[in-house]
Amino acid sequence: DRYVVILAGGIGIKFWPYSRHNKPKQFLDLLGTGRSLLQMTYDRFRPNYEPHQFIVVTNRKYLQLVKEQLPEIPTDRLLVEPMRRNTAASIALGSYKIKKLNPNARVIVSPSDQLIFNENAFFEAIELGMEAARQSGNLVTLGIRPNRPDTSYGYIQYFPDKGNPVKKVKTFTEKPDISLATTFLESGDFVWNSGTFVWKNESIIGAFEHYLPEMAEVFEEGEAYFCTEKEQEFLKKAYSLIRNISIDHGILEKSDEVFTVLGDFGWSDLGSWQNLYEVSQKDEVKNTVLGKALLYETENCFIKLPKDKLVVIQGLKDYLISDSENVLLICKLGDESKFREFVTDAKKID
Ligand code: GDD
Ligand code: MG
Repeated sequence: DRYVVILAGGIGIKFWPYSRHNKPKQFLDLLGTGRSLLQMTYDRFRPNYEPHQFIVVTNRKYLQLVKEQLPEIPTDRLLVEPMRRNTAASIALGSYKIKKLNPNARVIVSPSDQLIFNENAFFEAIELGMEAARQSGNLVTLGIRPNRPDTSYGYIQYFPDKGNPVKKVKTFTEKPDISLATTFLESGDFVWNSGTFVWKNESIIGAFEHYLPEMAEVFEEGEAYFCTEKEQEFLKKAYSLIRNISIDHGILEKSDEVFTVLGDFGWSDLGSWQNLYEVSQKDEVKNTVLGKALLYETENCFIKLPKDKLVVIQGLKDYLISDSENVLLICKLGDESKFREFVTDAKKID
């Protein structure tokens, strides 16, 4: 009675130019392992779940990529969004589909663009979450101890409950500004929302009815179309009616029935080149090279190259070099804030 819903329809510009609109982060083999982040997500769950227990929600632009990368999943388990409406809609779509498949299902919602280093600890946290969700009907998110005031995450403050790794959530603040994030970090009783959720399907549907009733209504009206040949046609209409909001803003910030499991499973959402560099293997002078490079007096660099290109570099320190198709990016590692500007300006020329 369990399903794993994988969200695979985001755009993630931060790995530009390697990621593009037609091939976002989750479909890339960022670590050079031969498997994309989406495939790594699938591989992580696969030992415990059969292909028909997966639901992948993606944008129609990426359907072909999903089919190529995850050929094992039956096509009726791939849900195709006609336009981007953010994660609340994607999760609602998955939930109403599952309701049709099994009204008593329990669900894990997973992003498709994260790394987990300790899978045993990860699945322990999932099981604790499942148990808490089963007993109480609550919404459970896996929480991560923060180590920097990063503003790209949701921050969860929890009620202390000694000895119990499952904590009731006091406040949930999605993407706070830097001063608030710093205050949260210093206060100690905050964790990051990892974006992996565990709940009974009926609980999340109840939450949609309560916090996003217009969205719930749209999907409820279409219930009869799920799992029929009219599904796609219905989704086209439905998506033009629903609002663009994340699950974090739409439900988690508002609900007082949220719990968090404090997990220590080694996590990175690979939010940036800098993040990826941090978790990648490095040589003795801290260079990471994905591809073929000859390096002289070069250290602390992250270098990502297409398969058939050799690059020769002398005298660089703390640089990112990412060469892909028709754009070569060379910039200081860590200057993340400039990215949006690069991408916008490049588009004008590209
Ligand atoms: N199908 C579909 N449709 N998937 C989507 C959409 C959409 O419109 N938008 C995003 N996704 C997918 C992304 O591909 C990713 O796997 C996941 O949903 C999360 O979306 P992000 O866009 O990456 O969210 P975020 O990183 O800004 O924030 C979320 O994750 C953080 C942890 O990485 C929030 O849940 C934060 O609270 C959390 O800390
Ligand atoms: Mg993300």
